[in-house]
Amino acid sequence: MKILLATQKPFAAAAVAGIKEISEAAGHEVVLLEKYPEQSDLVAAVADVDAMIIRSDKVTAEVLDAAKNLKIVVRAGAGYDNVDLEAATAHGVVVMNTPGQNSNAVAELAIAMMIFMARTQFTPATGTEIMGKKVGIQAFGNVGRLVGKKAEALGMSVMAIDPFLPAEKIVEGGATPAATLEELYSSCDYVSIHIPATPQTIGSIGYDLVSKMPKGATLVNTARKEVIDEAGLMKALEERTDLKYITDVMPDSYEAMKEKFGLRVFATPKKMGAQSAEANVNAGLAAARQIADYFATGCTKFQVNK
Ligand code: 3PG
Repeated sequence: MKILLATQKPFAAAAVAGIKEISEAAGHEVVLLEKYPEQSDLVAAVADVDAMIIRSDKVTAEVLDAAKNLKIVVRAGAGYDNVDLEAATAHGVVVMNTPGQNSNAVAELAIAMMIFMARTQFTPATGTEIMGKKVGIQAFGNVGRLVGKKAEALGMSVMAIDPFLPAEKIVEGGATPAATLEELYSSCDYVSIHIPATPQTIGSIGYDLVSKMPKGATLVNTARKEVIDEAGLMKALEERTDLKYITDVMPDSYEAMKEKFGLRVFATPKKMGAQSAEANVNAGLAAARQIADYFATGCTKFQVNK
């Protein structure tokens, strides 16, 4: 089978080598499409492939229409909002992710972002410490739980909420459950967002929640820019000159935010949460194994469009 490794943001060389090794040992061929400038390059590259490994690459209905032999797409990572699941299902294409494989990299970035903002973006201005502060974890999945553990080790107290987890599971994971999002936002010095971008969550964090945060609080977003209502966030930051926002990746209105709020806001230019050599290897090799297993045994353990 022909597997296309399509990564607009390339994997580390060791991950590419590992993907090839696993796939070739299973009798498959890997072709590479990295750093492609246009979406049309992806559409052109899928014509004769049987499988795809992608990152945040956009697998749209157009891509799926062009991929006549495609049987499986594995998103090497957690969020699959970049894949048109409905179109994939209509084409009989199995879509999987590799949950947990890049979580540590994202969790480390969330902690780094808290410290970066606490220390005024590494400028000489007097900052604060995160020890003794309270972090609220919005969604207690693979990344959220790791952020909680690392924050606790650094002397923070941890609160969490997750619409899919009962309070006892949050307690088992080492955090204090919040009864409502309002409670989480109003009682935490840092809120770290770990929700996926879905029709229910897009634009769901805005003025009402952010303006409830305590004095000097920071909102940390290593999830998706789309979950933020940027106009509402800006209104809150305008009214409350003590609040801060840091995000991986750049909001649509970042230029205006930077101009208005200076060092109170920061955004990475390109999503970097999962961009560690370790995460590339973990997620990339897991994707290759999942494809090899699927073709060998029909295993659909991580399928997300069942
Ligand atoms: C994910 O959903 O796994 C992360 O956002 C990583 O995305 P990336 O593979 O584009 O870095």
